[in-house]
Amino acid sequence: MDLRIKSFEEYKAKYKASVDNPDAFWDEIAKTFTWKKPYEKVCDYNFIKADIKWFVNGKLNITENVLDRHLEKRGDKIALLWEPNNPTEKHQEITYRKLYERVCEFSNALKAQGIKKGDRVVLYMPMVPELAIACLACARIGAIHSVVFAGFSAVAMADRINDSQAKMVITADGLNRGPKQIPLKEVVDEALKSCTTIETVIVFNCLNRNITMQAGRDLWWHNTIEGMPKVCPAEEMDSEDMLFILYTSGSTGKPKGVVHTHGGYMVYTTYTFQNVFQYEENDVYWCTADIGWITGHSYIVYGPLSSGATSVMFEGVPSFPDAGRFWQICEKHKVNQFYTAPTAIRALMACGNEHVTSANLDSLKLIGSVGEPINEEAWQWYYKEVGKEKIPVIDTWWQTENGGIMISGLGGYSPMKPTFAGYPLPGIQPCLMGQDGKEITEANQEGHLCIKYPWPSIIRTTYGDHERCILTYFTAYKNHYFTGDGAKRDENGMYRIIGRVDDVINVSGHRFGTAEIEDAINSSELVVESAVVGYPHAIKGQGIYAFVVCDKLPENNSEAEGKIIASVTKQIGKIANPEKIQFVSDLPKTRSGKIMRRILRKIAEGEVKNIGDTSTLLNPDVVEDIVKGALH
Ligand code: PRX
Repeated sequence: MDLRIKSFEEYKAKYKASVDNPDAFWDEIAKTFTWKKPYEKVCDYNFIKADIKWFVNGKLNITENVLDRHLEKRGDKIALLWEPNNPTEKHQEITYRKLYERVCEFSNALKAQGIKKGDRVVLYMPMVPELAIACLACARIGAIHSVVFAGFSAVAMADRINDSQAKMVITADGLNRGPKQIPLKEVVDEALKSCTTIETVIVFNCLNRNITMQAGRDLWWHNTIEGMPKVCPAEEMDSEDMLFILYTSGSTGKPKGVVHTHGGYMVYTTYTFQNVFQYEENDVYWCTADIGWITGHSYIVYGPLSSGATSVMFEGVPSFPDAGRFWQICEKHKVNQFYTAPTAIRALMACGNEHVTSANLDSLKLIGSVGEPINEEAWQWYYKEVGKEKIPVIDTWWQTENGGIMISGLGGYSPMKPTFAGYPLPGIQPCLMGQDGKEITEANQEGHLCIKYPWPSIIRTTYGDHERCILTYFTAYKNHYFTGDGAKRDENGMYRIIGRVDDVINVSGHRFGTAEIEDAINSSELVVESAVVGYPHAIKGQGIYAFVVCDKLPENNSEAEGKIIASVTKQIGKIANPEKIQFVSDLPKTRSGKIMRRILRKIAEGEVKNIGDTSTLLNPDVVEDIVKGALH
């Protein structure tokens, strides 16, 4: 059960073993879980066809590992420690036994509503314990959950419901976000106008708001669980049966549904949770992510709970009621491992040190970062002000498609180097590929980050479109998984992630495809065409800069901007609103009509002296005009 490596030497030995004989390495780990029927083979894979299987023919249910197996020894241990948005409200301590009962009760409620193995259920929820309970209840009965982050718009939700052909939505009347209350049910009602597959909507009463319930479709959560037994047998799942779909943005078209499966995801999230965070039995661990993103799935719910940990779940935001909230929560619950995003670190850094120094952070043993490259200044602040120069900072690199942490410091055991994520975890075989398609073996060179060998929680498919999975991840470099990131490796073998090399923008650790935002902008009737690029943003990491062509240049820029912003909010959600909108007469294009984003990126970054050769453009004059009007 304790899967931890406890020294750097041991890491090196385990790493070598994991490369020399991956099957033996993972077999030893996987054996420690509860299987209903043992697997016959550890791994079977073909990267060309993106056909990957782990723990072949094994039967299990992930929730038996997350819940049942802890009941005997940890029944009274707190599994979820929920901290409300409003600090004057009471927090909740949900023990493993209680969580088991609540998951079983809701599993029975789902079954009573006709949800069966293989059905898709969309969750659009606040950060309340019921979100984790709903995920686990789906998993228990073999339904496939797809959590849609509660900041997405009705259109974005409808797209995801339609793509997954979901049968049920689980939502709430609304959510608390700092001083505001945000409606959720109305967004669901709007989305469902363009969906035909949803039969039932279960609504959790979070705010006591007055909402409309559609007869025959909408049910209150508390009514669905009335009289339901608090035990529910866990459905027997194949290792490779789908556990969840999580939509994420790619460089083209609509978001794709990344699919993870029961067996491999369970083994990898548990193994990495224990090793990266070096969780010890009585520790309190807190990941500040939202369960709407992969970090919340893997490192609030599945990894920690499968390890029998106490996992803190926070409803609110770092700035409410003031910028000291994170640190107050660390003090209140004596948090030992704290895991957050660079964007939050930078935002809190800008609010002054008194918020940190006024809290007692002595309980912290390790602090982590995830979601985007952490810049040197933020790293140093985190290390000095939060960690008091005494505890390790771990920078964890991974992706929705990876399921779990791939490159990272290992607790306090591996060396730290600011802005470097560090070494690959055991079982992960990264490499850098050059423009010529060959592997770069020299140190201190930049290349495209690929992975040579599968790991248990690698993406299995993009829901409903396997070809897209092959094309996106397994085609650029034959027999390799391509991450879409650029990276550098130093002379000691440590990796530094530089950022995306495709048309994906990472805003506050959230991924958006430029094409997706452009589609949203172009849906405004004013707009003829647009091009979106990322630019360095002091807090968000990257900001969204939109170059927009209208029928004619708008007379009133702020009115036109308002309309464009409204389109993006409607199509995707406020989280994708561009910070900067520049109206231009035309976009720089190649002779074949392709927009030259490289040039626009330079302009957005303020690097106008380095634009490079524009003579091959169809319309070189336009570049000068755009440079003159650039927003800085
Ligand atoms: O560009 C990398 C960046 O975030 C991308 C993955 O985004 P997403 O699937 O939303 O998952 C985020 C949380 C796991 C990656 O392709 N990224 C993530 N973590 C880091 C990072 N870039 C640099 N350093 C990191 N630690």
